[in-house]
Amino acid sequence: MNVLLLGSGGREHALAWKIAQSEKVDKLYIAPGNAGTATVGINVDIAATDFAALKTFALERNVEMVVVGPEDPLVRGVYDEFLHDLATQHIAVIGPSAKAAQLEGSKAFAKEFMERYHIPTARYLSVNAETLEEGIAFLRQIGAPYVLKADGLCAGKGVLIINNQEEAERELRAMLDGKFGQAGATVVIEEFLTGIECSVFVVTDSQHYKVLPVAKDYKRVGEGDKGLNTGGMGSVSPVAFADEEFMTKVRERIIEPTIQGLLDEALLYKGFIFLGLINVGGDPYVIEYNARMGDPETESVMLRLKSDIVDLFEGVRDVTLDTKEVEIDPRFAACVMLVSGGYPGEYKKGLPITGFTLAETTDSILFHAGTTVREGRIVTNGGRVIAVCSYGDTKQEALAQSYKVADILGFEGKYYRRDIGFDLP
Ligand code: AMP
Ligand code: GLY
Repeated sequence: MNVLLLGSGGREHALAWKIAQSEKVDKLYIAPGNAGTATVGINVDIAATDFAALKTFALERNVEMVVVGPEDPLVRGVYDEFLHDLATQHIAVIGPSAKAAQLEGSKAFAKEFMERYHIPTARYLSVNAETLEEGIAFLRQIGAPYVLKADGLCAGKGVLIINNQEEAERELRAMLDGKFGQAGATVVIEEFLTGIECSVFVVTDSQHYKVLPVAKDYKRVGEGDKGLNTGGMGSVSPVAFADEEFMTKVRERIIEPTIQGLLDEALLYKGFIFLGLINVGGDPYVIEYNARMGDPETESVMLRLKSDIVDLFEGVRDVTLDTKEVEIDPRFAACVMLVSGGYPGEYKKGLPITGFTLAETTDSILFHAGTTVREGRIVTNGGRVIAVCSYGDTKQEALAQSYKVADILGFEGKYYRRDIGFDLP
């Protein structure tokens, strides 16, 4: 069959790499893709949110399955768009409906959902301009550190963690006043949870589910998890503390009530559920839901998924996921992100990248995040440029291999963190 993948980052290159390995796939198209996805499929110059153009393209090229990488098209209703058009309703979209994608699109919606199904998460209060005073009272009640979250999508920038109460009150007012635009018209105030985080990926056909390898990402730009938040500086999989006992709790307390809740509320969900979890003294709590895979966790997760991902997607389409097997590579995977100097602040684009020929002779796998081809050369085209990913029998071995190749690749201002995985055994 022909498959169309939406998105253009490292996550999408990793998904494209995995999809292209399936014997079930004839042609793989990526809209819009990047220089990396072009090596495993055919890039199509259509934005992931241009639904009319995507539908026309899918019909012209006999696409039978659309796999959605980023959250934006999901929250804007790409699933519904294909389903509710007679011409495209035979095309399976792997992703939740717009209503179900609110688990990511609205933090207040997600918190209320978790409350209804007794899913462990931090205590919270949702406030808006009318209920500001209640919000301030709640801040005083919970104590520092204060967690303030803009309700809507903010490309990962809408969460503030503040130690000082006056500052927290000031920021709360600023958010309700439009600091994050409409996304902050409602703010979720949360109690701060202390623990170590991990990312659990579930794929569901709306009735059954399978759990993919657990990963951990590193969001801060600086070593020791210091400095500004980024789109992700690296990832590792597996995560030692996510052992059988922990994962049993995750399934019983979080995944199963989530799937049941979606079913009970007729929130149609046929895709990935990303659980951002925190381990509080051995018990998993949900920090956030996302309606998609994580980036750069996907880069590590795809290395460790041995099963045919398109076979799993067919299970999602046909609601037969219970008959599918998820086979996992026992080795470690580690991914180190090479980023542009200055990122996540200002940085240059269009810088030539050297070392590909040598890097490609190694055992590492390079997933492009922000690259493009200019005059026949691969050049930088984003803050996050390339994810260098490797296997190893231990975490240390996988990381050592990735670091070796991180040094082979070069571009002006190249930066990467040398301590990915530092907080795990
Ligand atoms: P989110 O966008 O909800 O994932 O939040 C971004 C980051 O803020 C998370 O990855 C956590 O590191 C941190 N965070 C969010 N909520 C909490 C919380 N209730 N307690 C502690 N840390 C949190
Ligand atoms: N790595 C976190 C995310 O994709 O949201």
